[in-house]
Amino acid sequence: MTRFPDNFLWGAATSAFQIEGSPLADGAGPSNWYRFTHEPGRVTDDETADTACDHYRLWRSDVALMRQLGLQAYRFSISWSRILPAGTGKVNPAGLAFYDRLVDALLAAGIRPAPTLYHWDLPAALEDRGGWCNRDCADWFGEYAGIIFEALGDRVDLWFTHNEPWVVVDAGHVQGQHPPGLRDLRAAALAAHNLLRGHGIAVQRLRATGKGQIGIVVNQEPKDTASDDPDDRRATRLADAYMNRQFLDPVLLGSYPGDLAEIYGDRWDDFPAGDMEVISTPIDFVGLNYYTRSVNRYDPDPATAPFHVAQVRQPGALYTTMDWEVRPASLTAMLLTIRKRYGNIPLYITENGAAFRDPEPDTHGRVADTDRCDYFRGHLSALAAAMDAGVDVRGYFAWSLLDNFEWTFGYAKTFGLVAVDSATGARFPKDSARFYRNVIRSRGAGI
Ligand code: FCB
Repeated sequence: MTRFPDNFLWGAATSAFQIEGSPLADGAGPSNWYRFTHEPGRVTDDETADTACDHYRLWRSDVALMRQLGLQAYRFSISWSRILPAGTGKVNPAGLAFYDRLVDALLAAGIRPAPTLYHWDLPAALEDRGGWCNRDCADWFGEYAGIIFEALGDRVDLWFTHNEPWVVVDAGHVQGQHPPGLRDLRAAALAAHNLLRGHGIAVQRLRATGKGQIGIVVNQEPKDTASDDPDDRRATRLADAYMNRQFLDPVLLGSYPGDLAEIYGDRWDDFPAGDMEVISTPIDFVGLNYYTRSVNRYDPDPATAPFHVAQVRQPGALYTTMDWEVRPASLTAMLLTIRKRYGNIPLYITENGAAFRDPEPDTHGRVADTDRCDYFRGHLSALAAAMDAGVDVRGYFAWSLLDNFEWTFGYAKTFGLVAVDSATGARFPKDSARFYRNVIRSRGAGI
């Protein structure tokens, strides 16, 4: 029987752009994602997040819902362009007030707020000034972070800087699928470096207040090789450097992985001495988002340069509707790898969950999402196995509280513990929500 420690923190996660809706309400400025989702052809069926889960208006009842589910913590993100409509300069008090009230309501419900400062939505005005490719963006982020710490730091003590900077770099600057829609390795290298500098500057800002704990959230996807062929092994190593080590090595070890040079070549600048010191400012913990692993082989197709990697589908394995293999054992492996490479720094699982095609609610509003319950069961057991082996994991956040706007996939990919009726906004806790509530109550005995 699995039992998690008494002080283990159980929560769920969301992000601002994916749930809030009302993107321009109360003086908010447009974000890059707002603009991008209004360009035809960017999102499946041209769906937008203009309403999303309507959380900007329904936040009170959403907090009540979280309480019913027994959540002890809530990881949400703050929309930079609500706070600073032009990205820098003039603060929009109504934007700040929204998060101020949310934090108060969470605390009143006994739920610990765990905000992420940057979950991909950049003020459009800053994208127009070069976004993360502009060195100044790190300082703009520091300014914004300072405003948030000042406003909420008396009540919030658990902070995350960026969510998954790799996705910002890869989907936004290499694949051209997210804003700013670039396919440019040189821009990617600059954005990666400036995201990391922004992270370090924000950490230093928090330290200056003398309060709170802070870390960064990265996605980790163990890379397994399809064979022992040296080309396959090399492709796998590069994929691992790019996705898994590009951000954690500089933050925790103070240097970029050597193999990044094989990817970026001369598109990588020699950055000013001193940058690495900022980037590696000590943090209190690392947030890890885990969904799947990948099995990789060498792909000779010139179109795949410079990575030359292709993923190999595993016959007989279960895949989610994101086409992600369900593989709990790789979560254990990932946690052991992290400890081996970076030491025993405290960790949080800041996202874990699965999109499946859910059955319609029955006449009692019940959604029998058995696949998702199995996913959570398997991954919580895998987490417990890593903790039994001594990995210091302090908490777990299920992705996601609500079915929401899954970026370029729109509303088709449902990850929620709770279904949302798009016409009425009504919320229906799925079986997985009940399952999770029992897990929390029993500290894992219900797995
Ligand atoms: C992660 C993101 C999150 C959501 C999940 C499914 O990469 O952080 O916003 O899209 O994947």
